[in-house]
Amino acid sequence: MDSMIRDINLAPQGQLKIDWVDQHMPILNQVKRDFAQRKPLAGKRAVICLHLEAKTAYLALTVKAAGAEVAVCGSNPLSTQDDVVAALVKNGVTAYAWHGATDKEYKMHLNKALDFQPDILIDDGGDLVATLHAERLEQAKGIIGGAEETTTGILRLKALAREGKLTFPMIAVNDAQMKYLFDNRYGTGQSVWDGILRTTNLTVCGKVVVVAGYGWCGKGVAARAKGLNARVVVTEIDPIKANEALMDGFEVMPMVEAAKLGDIFVTVTGNRDIIRREHLEVIKDKAILSNAGHFDVEVNKEDLRAMATSVRIARKNIEEYTFPDGRKVYLLGEGRLVNLACADGHPAEVMDLTFALQALSLDYLVANRDKLEPGVFSVPDSIDRKVAEFRLKALGVSLDELTEKQAKYLASWAE
Ligand SMILES: NC(=O)c1ccc[n+]([C@@H]2O[C@H](COP(=O)([O-])OP(=O)(O)OC[C@H]3O[C@@H](n4cnc5c(N)ncnc54)[C@H](O)[C@@H]3O)[C@@H](O)[C@H]2O)c1
Repeated sequence: MDSMIRDINLAPQGQLKIDWVDQHMPILNQVKRDFAQRKPLAGKRAVICLHLEAKTAYLALTVKAAGAEVAVCGSNPLSTQDDVVAALVKNGVTAYAWHGATDKEYKMHLNKALDFQPDILIDDGGDLVATLHAERLEQAKGIIGGAEETTTGILRLKALAREGKLTFPMIAVNDAQMKYLFDNRYGTGQSVWDGILRTTNLTVCGKVVVVAGYGWCGKGVAARAKGLNARVVVTEIDPIKANEALMDGFEVMPMVEAAKLGDIFVTVTGNRDIIRREHLEVIKDKAILSNAGHFDVEVNKEDLRAMATSVRIARKNIEEYTFPDGRKVYLLGEGRLVNLACADGHPAEVMDLTFALQALSLDYLVANRDKLEPGVFSVPDSIDRKVAEFRLKALGVSLDELTEKQAKYLASWAE
């Protein structure tokens, strides 16, 4: 199949990026070696819809090493790196993606990837699976199954399953412990600040950072902001998460109050309209708005556009909106995931865990295809533990083992 990419001549630059992450992903290295010997996906066609940067490329090459024919498409128009995609094509992967795709082009890329006729798939945010079920139902019925990368995608899958419409098994990779405890918390925590710092070249210390949502991602973003010496305010709707934020040493208040104080905002709720007109009406002059949630709906861009008397590009990846009273706000990366639109996403060592789970989940799906019904499934605990053990081994870290007496003690009820 013919790829649709920006420029194949960018491949050498992309290959260097893939080589770099290859050197920092020891778990995926090991999975790839094992796959290359066993070929567990031989004869299968796989479509991978993820943020197309170097770590994802290495995952695609791992799936290819398992014997599958692989096609990729982006899961967000601004996170695709054209040089990496070109390198993938040079490595025999079919690709339908370019950086800055319009909504129409993005949708066309998804459909082109589905024309590849996948047996198995990896989705990030649910667009691939939603397209299959809304527009290509006959094709959906023939799919063996897939794996979903993120919180928002799993919410969408569960909604589809609740309506009895999901036609194949999907593994919720996001909900594995070796995923959300590390990728969502430490990965998002670090890479969000990488994106904000690269883009603005401003200080964080001494500023008020507002983090909307104190889930796994929000915890990481807030902890890193504290480490950069910011005063951190959290907004939440869940009383338990709010208590966690308070005990972790952060202030908690409604967004309408936080809007007046914040210098830098990071929304990471998976919900919509977290910053909207009523907040923009009182927001501090020169506030920086960024989003790390999956979709670009957390900062209401329609409200921003409607309220602004002028909009201009103030700097690469920064839109400046000026309000009638002269206040300005800056929106980073069009309100799309700031760590991917304005930086390279999570560190390679973190994606090593997530993508090892993804690769092993595809292996599991194909091996157990006759036993799995349509629905949303957890990553088997044995895979989660295997990835944890691989990581410790790669780091040269050993653990204690239970003595016989200890095991007996833990399993008994009598004193
Ligand atoms: N940027 C990235 O690289 C990256 C990585 C992983 C996940 N994500 C995405 O980030 C989002 C959050 O993921 P998560 O794993 O932290 O989810 P989570 O469910 O653990 O946390 C979301 C939090 O947001 C809170 N929330 C919901 N509506 C709110 C509102 N109106 N105001 C304030 N708080 C609200 C919830 O109570 C919850 O505590 C999802 O869209 C997910 O797909 C992004």
